[in-house]
Amino acid sequence: MILVLNGPNLNLLGSREPDIYGRLTLGELEQQCSDWARELGMSVECRQSNHEGELIDWLQKAAQTGFRGVILNAAAYTHTTVALRDAVAAVSLPVIEVHLSNVFAREEFRHRSMLSAVCAGTITGLGPLSYKAALVALAEMPGRSA
Ligand code: DQA
Repeated sequence: MILVLNGPNLNLLGSREPDIYGRLTLGELEQQCSDWARELGMSVECRQSNHEGELIDWLQKAAQTGFRGVILNAAAYTHTTVALRDAVAAVSLPVIEVHLSNVFAREEFRHRSMLSAVCAGTITGLGPLSYKAALVALAEMPGRSA
């Protein structure tokens, strides 16, 4: 089971800056992740929070709860928070950082990620396929179980 975490404002997907983030709603994105995971012989649990502490709590509990990897779109927290970075560093599971938009083609403050250095990898700019690529990568990682 893979934990998919989406951070602040991603609950607004579909209506939020559609030129940048597309028209897919969060529910539709989560359904796609679930379908892709099933094709890969895995399953996902998807959660979203606008609160940093809640994301940290979920990361801390992920290993104990039996997840074998995490896909994390920390949204704006990517660029700002040491606390979330420390939580990713502390988790014993592979965490893959994803972004829908290409953060490097956007404002300079989005070029810096507090998370990339402590993540197994970063996938940015592929829209929903960023999540699919992360699922494919996790499916190939050692210790795999559904
Ligand atoms: C984002 C990129 C971030 O810079 C931004 O703050 C988001 C979404 C993305 O998925 O493209 O909220 O993580």
